[in-house]
Amino acid sequence: MEEKFREILRRENAKFNLISRKSFEKTFDYLWLLSKQVLETLEPFDSIVDIGSGAGFPGLAIKILSPEKKVLLVEPRKKRYEFLTLAIKELGLTNIEVLKGDFFLFHKKFCDKKFDYLTCLGIKNKEDFVREDCNNIKKGYCFITGKNEVERILQLKKIKKYNSEVKKVSGKDNLFLVIIHRNGKNNSNSKSKRRSWKNNDRS
Ligand SMILES: C[S@@+](CC[C@H](N)C(=O)[O-])C[C@H]1O[C@@H](n2cnc3c(N)ncnc32)[C@H](O)[C@@H]1O
Repeated sequence: MEEKFREILRRENAKFNLISRKSFEKTFDYLWLLSKQVLETLEPFDSIVDIGSGAGFPGLAIKILSPEKKVLLVEPRKKRYEFLTLAIKELGLTNIEVLKGDFFLFHKKFCDKKFDYLTCLGIKNKEDFVREDCNNIKKGYCFITGKNEVERILQLKKIKKYNSEVKKVSGKDNLFLVIIHRNGKNNSNSKSKRRSWKNNDRS
């Protein structure tokens, strides 16, 4: 199904410019591997909400890799929303929805529904989501982000009460997965993990 998704994205990308057109194959391969890394890094889970799903990474790619999971994609831009809806239909996926709107609409509309993880790649100010710290996120957050934002996220007061870890994205020196375990409060490892990030031990 990876190849079918690649074909759909290649075809629609020519109309909508969802990812780089010039280096489409390379960008697709990298985003696919990144989504795989997210899936393999998180604790076992049943459901995710992916904020700012755009071309479908990591949310739609995770659904393709692990079709039994329940996935909600959140995307405010019309063309991207339409692309995601079309890709889901053509791939014949079920137990996956797209919400046309932003994170705050998700928060309002789905406040009574629970998701294990919230994932997010490519939105600025991801810490806004943590500030909201919504109770419908059970296990935690997984942000894919650059070094400066990692520092900002880890400095948040709300984050300090949770156990968080930072992992380097495979093949990229300046991109990291920040995983915040909402259910593992104040684990004694938290401080040492933050210290080790500062000491550049980012394995
Ligand atoms: C860099 S782009 C796409 C990244 C996407 N994960 C991908 O792989 O293509 C970031 C996306 O986030 C969306 N976005 C920006 N702010 C948002 C918000 N507050 N809630 C949900 N989506 C948002 C934008 O419309 C855009 O499609």
